[in-house]
Amino acid sequence: MTMKSIELPDYKQQSDAVKERFNKLKQRPVELSTENLGVTFSGKKTVEAIRDVNLSVYNREFLSILGASGCGKSTLIRVLAGFETPTNGSAKIQGKEIQGPGPDRGMVFQSYTLFPWLTAKKNIMFGLELQHGRSSIVESEAMQWLDFVGLTKFADSYPHQLSGGMKQRVAIARALASKPRILLMDEPFGALDSQTRAQMQSHLIQIWKNIDITIIFITHDIDEAVYLSDRIIVLEPNPSRIAEIIENPVARPRSPQQFLTPEFLAVKKRVEDLIHPRHDDKEEQLPVFKLTPTGNEIE
Ligand SMILES: Nc1ncnc2c1ncn2[C@@H]1O[C@H](COP(=O)(O)OP(=O)(O)O)[C@@H](O)[C@H]1O
Ligand SMILES: [Mg+2]
Repeated sequence: MTMKSIELPDYKQQSDAVKERFNKLKQRPVELSTENLGVTFSGKKTVEAIRDVNLSVYNREFLSILGASGCGKSTLIRVLAGFETPTNGSAKIQGKEIQGPGPDRGMVFQSYTLFPWLTAKKNIMFGLELQHGRSSIVESEAMQWLDFVGLTKFADSYPHQLSGGMKQRVAIARALASKPRILLMDEPFGALDSQTRAQMQSHLIQIWKNIDITIIFITHDIDEAVYLSDRIIVLEPNPSRIAEIIENPVARPRSPQQFLTPEFLAVKKRVEDLIHPRHDDKEEQLPVFKLTPTGNEIE
């Protein structure tokens, strides 16, 4: 039997509308940029985590970073957050060298990072109190953020009383409460089941639309990256470098119905080819062990 595959458009053949969208995007102010950025960890073993990363992130952009595990994604976002110092090149925020973490950047991680001994509301108040001291304004602001992520009813719940998705919503509210210009998210939905994950993706798009924020989002889920982003940076391993920066042609506003459109599938295929190159002729053969007698023919 011959398999017929679908003809997909080349995502690089941009329509005028898509060209215009990205021209406009690149005229906005640059929020974050890197120039020949490299990070090498030297310890017992020297690890070159990333090499020669050149990128500009524009105001209000939603940028995803995709790549196989160990590819340097977390290292890159940690440099942008100011937790890691470049060993080569530079990383800048609004044109100034990044010196360390700051309230202009909020972070959300994959692992749940809420304080287990504080309620949802108190978790959000924690950072605000460090910045502004204790006050009733801080409490009402925390409540507004909880409302914003749809968790007003859970203000007095402790993290162990919340589902994974709710915990991440509190973490997002907490990151947004200090009014950062940039939200850095390292696989924030990686630990969630697929249904919750899908809800959180739609939720994040709503948040991004409603507040003035630039988002850098790490994921290894290709659908998630295509669904959410304006541009997608694909990293290749050994050493990690930018393989390609994809300008995502999928139109906004986005909806889950777009998952099966030719544009969506074309971007997805391109990312897949970059991340897992398949060599049909040299396909790896698994050794075959016969543990039980074979049953009926299955193929
Ligand atoms: N603090 C560190 N010390 C030494 N090696 C590290 C450190 N952090 C990350 N690495 C190494 O750098 C490489 C990239 O890691 P990471 O940025 O975490 O990748 P990813 O997030 O894409 O999975 C990996 O080989 C990892 O083991
Ligand atoms: Mg990582």
